Amino acid sequence: MGAVRSQSLPGQKTFRRTPEQDPIGVYIHWPFCLSKCPYCDFNSHIALEPIDHDGFRQALLAELSHMAALAPKRQVGSIFFGGGTPSLMPVQTVAALLDHIAALWTLQADVEITLEANPTSVEAGKFKALRQAGVNRVSLGVQALSSSALRALGRTHSVEEAEAAIAIAQAHFDRMSFDLIYTRPKQSLTAWRQELKQGLDLAAGHLSLYQLTIEPGTPFARWHAAGRLVLPDEDQAAAFYELTQELCEAVGMPAYEISNHAIRGEEARHNLNYWRYGEYVGVGPGAHGRLNLNGARVALATYRDPAAWLEQVRQYGHGLVSRNPITPSQQVEERLLMGLRLIEGIDLAPLAQLGWRPADDVLQMLTSAELLQYDSENSRLRATRRGRLVLNSVIAELVR
Ligand SMILES: C[S@@+](CC[C@H](N)C(=O)[O-])C[C@H]1O[C@@H](n2cnc3c(N)ncnc32)[C@H](O)[C@@H]1O
Ligand code: SF4
Repeated sequence: MGAVRSQSLPGQKTFRRTPEQDPIGVYIHWPFCLSKCPYCDFNSHIALEPIDHDGFRQALLAELSHMAALAPKRQVGSIFFGGGTPSLMPVQTVAALLDHIAALWTLQADVEITLEANPTSVEAGKFKALRQAGVNRVSLGVQALSSSALRALGRTHSVEEAEAAIAIAQAHFDRMSFDLIYTRPKQSLTAWRQELKQGLDLAAGHLSLYQLTIEPGTPFARWHAAGRLVLPDEDQAAAFYELTQELCEAVGMPAYEISNHAIRGEEARHNLNYWRYGEYVGVGPGAHGRLNLNGARVALATYRDPAAWLEQVRQYGHGLVSRNPITPSQQVEERLLMGLRLIEGIDLAPLAQLGWRPADDVLQMLTSAELLQYDSENSRLRATRRGRLVLNSVIAELVR
């Protein structure tokens, strides 16, 4: 299955770049997991019946065709299989989807193709075949490098399995990343220092480090409300964040986004495209898209429930539940929410085109509080480390 990796770019020399022709991202959502982790509110489900793999493959293929009809003639810069647990997908499905994307659009020569994987031995056993299918980057949900923490997070893999999966991933893929969750219940700063150092020793260029979020409606939210989960307070969480930045910077893996760290050049292009407000399509249950269609910015979303989505695609060839233009003020808010997550910050020129500029007094207040930095020469705004910790409040002030 070499089609995906070896595709050339016919006509590349004469390709004219307009904003509508910047490379797009393609997101594919696989909504199933073997078990549901008690902290997680992603659109992920334990399949109660055998999964209709043929049906899902056909539906994902059909929805990709629908998206390509909406957004034809784009170049694809990145593809991301997210979940749920896409490492549970049959490799033939992954291969068929990649072939179809290559047939529908033009792939950039260095297209990034990432697949999220749980670090179990069964899934790591599929890495070679996934590489052959065209996947060229994996992102492993390691979550913790402590057995007791893995148990408390309801994870089904061990530390040893995770370490083995990291090694297998590094043997098969030039690019890989893994996720750790910190500020966990009962976690001390000293224990995190140890664990992160171990993580940095194992890492190969990219790490996602998330502070635990208590998501409404999850078992963690109930246990937290009942006082069964004691989490670091705001000041302690800030100390965890500071330590994380310090240790990552010391080994040349600074943050390029609030929770993402990479050596230069290893940043996840697919996610960078979201944060830089590029175009992307999403297929599968609960997937989102953003497209520039006929001069309008359009938000697309599909049915979240896997059975409902499958039924819709069977009937209509797509599972879209909404396809709405985004107003200029919503676009401003989205651009700020996305762009200020990045250490590089945000270019204010596109915001000016939407009729928005920060009010002088608010800018003055936020820069003197050292929450924002404003580079007037290049018209760029960036959040400081302190500002990134309270980003939602900073943005609320900006758009007030
Ligand atoms: C779609 S999920 C996981 C992919 C894969 N199923 C797994 O669990 O390994 C992507 C990442 O989000 C992070 N995550 C999920 N829920 C979180 C929460 N409540 N707080 C912080 N991080 C969370 C985890 O690190 C996870 O690896
Ligand atoms: S964290 Fe991953 S494995 Fe756990 S329920 Fe969420 S998507 Fe599934």
